[in-house]
Amino acid sequence: MCGIFGYIGTRKNVPGLVFEGLKSLEYRGYDSWGLAAPDKNGKLRILKNTGKIGDSRVDSLPDNGMALGHTRWATHGGVTMENAHPHLDCSGRIALIHNGIIENYLEIKKELVKTGHRFRSETDTEVAVHLIEEIISKSEKKGLSRKVLFGRAVRQAFGKFSGLNAVIAMDAESEVFVAAKNGSPLIAGHGESHGENFLASDAHAILPYTRRLYFMEDGEIITLDRSGITVQNLADGQEKPVRFQQIDWKIEKEDKGKLPHFMLKEIFDQPKILLGIAASTEVTLPEFAKLIDNSYGTYLVGCGTAAYACLAGTYIFSKIAKKHVNFSVASEFSYLIDFLTPKSLVIGLSQSGETIDLLDSLKKARGKGVQVGALVNVLGSSLYRMADHKQLLHAGTEKAVVSTKAFTSKLAYLMMIAYLLKKDGVSGRKILETAGREAARVVSSAYRKKIQSLAENLSSAKDIYIIGRGVSYPVALEAALKIKEASYVHAEGFPAGELKHGVIALIEKNTPCIGFLPNDETYNDTLSGLIEMKSRGGLIIGISNKPHECFDIFLPVVDCGIASAIPNTVIAQLLGYYLAIQKGIDPDKPRNLAKSVTVK
Ligand code: F6R
Repeated sequence: MCGIFGYIGTRKNVPGLVFEGLKSLEYRGYDSWGLAAPDKNGKLRILKNTGKIGDSRVDSLPDNGMALGHTRWATHGGVTMENAHPHLDCSGRIALIHNGIIENYLEIKKELVKTGHRFRSETDTEVAVHLIEEIISKSEKKGLSRKVLFGRAVRQAFGKFSGLNAVIAMDAESEVFVAAKNGSPLIAGHGESHGENFLASDAHAILPYTRRLYFMEDGEIITLDRSGITVQNLADGQEKPVRFQQIDWKIEKEDKGKLPHFMLKEIFDQPKILLGIAASTEVTLPEFAKLIDNSYGTYLVGCGTAAYACLAGTYIFSKIAKKHVNFSVASEFSYLIDFLTPKSLVIGLSQSGETIDLLDSLKKARGKGVQVGALVNVLGSSLYRMADHKQLLHAGTEKAVVSTKAFTSKLAYLMMIAYLLKKDGVSGRKILETAGREAARVVSSAYRKKIQSLAENLSSAKDIYIIGRGVSYPVALEAALKIKEASYVHAEGFPAGELKHGVIALIEKNTPCIGFLPNDETYNDTLSGLIEMKSRGGLIIGISNKPHECFDIFLPVVDCGIASAIPNTVIAQLLGYYLAIQKGIDPDKPRNLAKSVTVK
């Protein structure tokens, strides 16, 4: 969470450049944004605002070859101008931005207030900048340059914080950035010309300017100015060699063309992606099958939508490959790792590859000697770099905060790997081709009209209940999540069998009830659940390969075997999308969310 972008060099219009960098990182948080730039007298000027960046202008900021910007996803302190980053010290010479949570900020703040520091915000972040100022003021100067004092103070201050954090501090007096990290991602870029260096929370924000990147590791502190970049260990201050990577990734064009939203564009992308996976000859796929076969326990771990893909994986491997794989929500996984051994395999599923709950639990699991695999969409992400075995999802950039194509790619790869484990890749390809063609039919304008009219029908619903069994259970969970986050309508997915154990008490006249009924052994029992809901007055929406008289609304889906989960999910994505449109919500940036969740 929180987009970070910093620049130092000799280019013109540096505030504009940093602002463009921030725009490309806005999906990381859009509660507020802000920039700091030094004036000719070494004082910092700040421009901040709440809400999305939009078409704001930053030409009121001084243009002196250095600026730092931040987009915020609020953790501590409300969404206000005062709480927007960057935060300044009392002298107005140091600016600081932050990603993470300084868990012990209250005790630090108490001490700083006693020594006369004046706080302007309610954030945990602001303690960091005052603490740096305080440490510098108390340091013995002994002829040391301001740059050295500043670097030492950042290191000392960072050492006092508990929690997972990344900070970038900018000193207008010595014209230097110092950044430290223990958790959230930070990447430095070294320009070939303009004596320039960059810092950002995502590589893609720097790549338009330079492909020479340094991916900071946890426990490092980095110093950037016009003369170059140096890296030290946070623990002992020891300097380390800076090993740049020359990045040759293709920069994808992020263009929604004439479509109104990225979410719709990304839903439309799915048929092609699925057919691509069906045709894939990547050697990593049989390698993954072999790894799972040889492991003494495989765990699929992820968060949110990715967690539902992991849960679907347990059914997929059981059904297709007769193989037991385990599942855990990543934020809970660290409490389940006691029985892991070096023979265990843990596979993290993630679109961004930056989700801190996932990375943190994988690091803890690695402490048990396990092998780590990754099914991840973003090349070069933290998960991609930390994994021993990796498979890219090849879904292309996912910009909309609501995840769509990354989920169906994860399902498709899990199915393909399960079929390879069964030594029947041909059947895997076949069902994915059928699912890809069916997804194409679901996104066609004729089919979308049906979903649009269903969304109109449901637009005043307070609650929507969704049931499924087997692999359709995680699909029901994912369907409910799409509806909730895109349209703010309360939706709940659950296993159809659980209905009579409590949830049925909530069904009233006209309560929308959606059932996923693919042509498998779950059909009859899920149907019984829907009939029970209908008896209590529910409005029944059946998603199946065949109609039934209990359905008030029927959305037909061709039988794709276990891969019916894919077109079924696409229907739910479109329903979430059209409900959002009905309610006038921007489905690309729903309230309170961020694309990359890098705080706990
Ligand atoms: C839902 C959504 C989130 C993410 C979750 C994990 O639409 O986007 O639930 O799936 O935050 O993110 P990744 O996959 O990037 O690890």
